[in-house]
Amino acid sequence: MTDSQGSSFLVLHSTRHISIFIHINSLRMFKILITGGAGFIGSHLAKKLINEKHFIVSLDNFSSGKRENLPSSFPKNYQFIECDVNNYQDLSAIMLAHKFDYVFHYAAVVGVQRTLDNPLMVLQDIEGIKNVLNLCKNTGVKRVFFSSSSEVYGEPVEFPQNEHTTPLNSKLPYAIVKNIGEAFVKSFKKEHDLDYTIFRFFNTYGPKQSADFVISKFIKLARANEDITIYGDGLQTRTFCFIEDNLEATIEILKGKLVVNDVINLGSDIEMTILDLARLVVEKTNSTSKIIHLPALEKGDMTRRKPDNTKMKQILGRELLPLSEGLDRVLEVKTPPNPPQNGRL
Ligand SMILES: NC(=O)c1ccc[n+]([C@@H]2O[C@H](COP(=O)([O-])OP(=O)(O)OC[C@H]3O[C@@H](n4cnc5c(N)ncnc54)[C@H](O)[C@@H]3O)[C@@H](O)[C@H]2O)c1
Repeated sequence: MTDSQGSSFLVLHSTRHISIFIHINSLRMFKILITGGAGFIGSHLAKKLINEKHFIVSLDNFSSGKRENLPSSFPKNYQFIECDVNNYQDLSAIMLAHKFDYVFHYAAVVGVQRTLDNPLMVLQDIEGIKNVLNLCKNTGVKRVFFSSSSEVYGEPVEFPQNEHTTPLNSKLPYAIVKNIGEAFVKSFKKEHDLDYTIFRFFNTYGPKQSADFVISKFIKLARANEDITIYGDGLQTRTFCFIEDNLEATIEILKGKLVVNDVINLGSDIEMTILDLARLVVEKTNSTSKIIHLPALEKGDMTRRKPDNTKMKQILGRELLPLSEGLDRVLEVKTPPNPPQNGRL
């Protein structure tokens, strides 16, 4: 017996009045697609789900993802396929062949500078979102998980930024694409009953992150004792969420059938200025790097960002990892291992 989210129930004993159901969801192996699977968050998520014995297919076009983010040897329940999700033909061949239970659509053009410099490439990601959703609808996917972003809130008008009460002020192409993506996801639910969960990720950091993102960039510069440049006075604030907190919440949301057809902020609610972040990284790495101020960015650098993460904390049942401890964990990580020796690339 199966419910709408694909969970299985075993009828153990049944009389006219009593039915005993044992929930055996946790015993079931799901087929899961992760787009952007050679990226930072996608590759960490794949590793977790592989360990939980699900069958994972990971797709990436290596535009910002790296081969060394893939597992060093491919277990039987993992497959990697090089694929551009914005190409319908390529994606449909994979999704029609596999008929996934769940899809995590994490592929996107990312990075502040890259998205400002390449707005047309960013807008092209709308094709990928439509491709993924159409194929989810046509292949019986039970729920699609869409990686949106804190950027959809744009320049802040309310603090903390709440999933339902804070208006979406997105003006830049990257944020507009995420906003349109959310609208498509909700419309596929309305017209085709495709279940969804929208994750609005706030700055997330951890091992294997590319230097497109502020923490890994500062660490790279500090370790090389090179100048750390920050835009403007550096008093703009961000919150920083350690990757393990993001993943634990994601897995709970998947397994517990939480946040179905709803939106959730995934991020920390402890604000820090970019200047203090740079100082902390310099201190922790014993670096001689100097902090240099560049002119403020004309656009794309919000003054503050802070999520209302009440829902996330309820799901985790605890506070998030403090930044200082998360940084220690990142700094412990040595150079990544060699690229994969086997498996399909
Ligand atoms: N890391 C954060 O702090 C953060 C914050 C907000 C939102 N997000 C979102 O989370 C998702 C994952 O981000 P990340 O931090 O892991 O970035 P990332 O760059 O490490 O991962 C994105 C991956 O998508 C791949 N990709 C891009 N376009 C593709 C395409 N057309 N076809 C196939 N693969 C493609 C890239 O090669 C890369 O491996 C993205 O959608 C991003 O917008 C991340």
